[in-house]
Amino acid sequence: MARQKWGSRWAFVLAAIGSAAGLGNAWRFPYMAYQNGGGAFYIPYFVALFIAGIPILMAEFAIGQGFQSSAPKALGKVSKNAEFIGWWAVITGSIITFYYNVIMAWIFNYLYHSLGVAWKNDPKGFFFGDFLKLTDGPGQLGGLRWPIVIGLLISWLWIYMILRKGTESVGKTVMWTVPLPVVLLLLLGIRGITLPGAATGLNYLFQPNFAKLADARVWANAFGQIFFSLSVAFGIMIAYGSYNSKKNDVANNAIITALGNSATSFLAGIAVFSVLGYMAQQMNVQVNEVVSGGVGLAFVVYPQAISLIPGGPIVQSIIGLAFFIMLLTLGIDSAFSLVEAIEAAAGDKFKVNKKSFLIGFSILGFIFGLLFATQGGLYWLDIIDHFMGTYALLVVGILESIVIGWIFGADRLRKYINSVSEIKIGGWFDLSLKFVIPIVLIIILGLNIFDEIKN
Ligand code: PFF
Repeated sequence: MARQKWGSRWAFVLAAIGSAAGLGNAWRFPYMAYQNGGGAFYIPYFVALFIAGIPILMAEFAIGQGFQSSAPKALGKVSKNAEFIGWWAVITGSIITFYYNVIMAWIFNYLYHSLGVAWKNDPKGFFFGDFLKLTDGPGQLGGLRWPIVIGLLISWLWIYMILRKGTESVGKTVMWTVPLPVVLLLLLGIRGITLPGAATGLNYLFQPNFAKLADARVWANAFGQIFFSLSVAFGIMIAYGSYNSKKNDVANNAIITALGNSATSFLAGIAVFSVLGYMAQQMNVQVNEVVSGGVGLAFVVYPQAISLIPGGPIVQSIIGLAFFIMLLTLGIDSAFSLVEAIEAAAGDKFKVNKKSFLIGFSILGFIFGLLFATQGGLYWLDIIDHFMGTYALLVVGILESIVIGWIFGADRLRKYINSVSEIKIGGWFDLSLKFVIPIVLIIILGLNIFDEIKN
């Protein structure tokens, strides 16, 4: 059977941007920037983007497209013994989908609870107590939280519907799930910056603290954020690239994807920090007392800010809906891209029927997800997320860049990229794949291991 193809260049680019722009842009990037030097963080951020992020993205698009294969098979063609790296990537991806979808399930619930602002003045109590009914630690595996189970079911059904017809249905979906969150972020940002106190919040995000640039951790965080944010080292971009024709542009598409992803992060930063500034003013505290990232930002801090926004329950419900629809549409294309990478890998290797695999995997994902839908779910989610983000991905990134850069030959890949791309890339690409990426990632891995031992 002929390999499926994207319906248009834009279907591919939007799908790639959709995968890259996910929950991490909304709840990881703003917090990262705030913690790592504010405005000064953009320096390591852009350095990392240009010297590591864009080259590895180009390399992933190129090997997917050039070999017309998903990650394990494509890496197997790059070097005989490298297939396992691709499997490592997609297995890590599978594990991530199991809990990513649980977060999607929470968002579905919060969408519903936005009507009437159910958390009132106590979002923390609402999230941990009423909603998760959290127990301490892993102790009680029991206590399935039915609202989460239902959200999880909806999430998997949605993913199934989107992937059912492959690139055709994905192409149709990303035409709206990629622009919509951007529009919502713009609206939330406009509401945010027109609130009193917004400027103070934005100051925290943009005021540069250049002294931070002397801290190696800040640089490591910038590279880590770029890798995570571009969804590289999960096999996704390789699978997406494989649905292009061999002659498709690589360099330009990678640059558009990377810049589109960064733009989404900046918008999110403005939308989030303007509202945090307002909230701090209303509560008569400093902005740094309310700042948070991750789960705490989306399910506690931002909901609290919503309940302080003037205009009464109707306006607040609308802002809540806008915020959670934004998160949902931002997250869904990242969620299904992980599943697509796995499906593509299984399809290439075992010639399984796409649809049957998808149904089987969705059921499996739903069942594994139940672990995180129990009262101890957040505990497990934190632990697994920590290991995936801190180790699994880095190892894939290191091995991938070494195999492509040294064994296959960065210059060979660059020749291919230049033969199909509008923009021609120079020798810096080789330096990046052979030296910069592996060395930086090894340093980050070392720092992470050091932190782990120290704690
Ligand atoms: N790139 C996504 C983000 O920044 O939110 C996160 C992500 C998506 C990570 C897909 C991993 C993944 F496979």
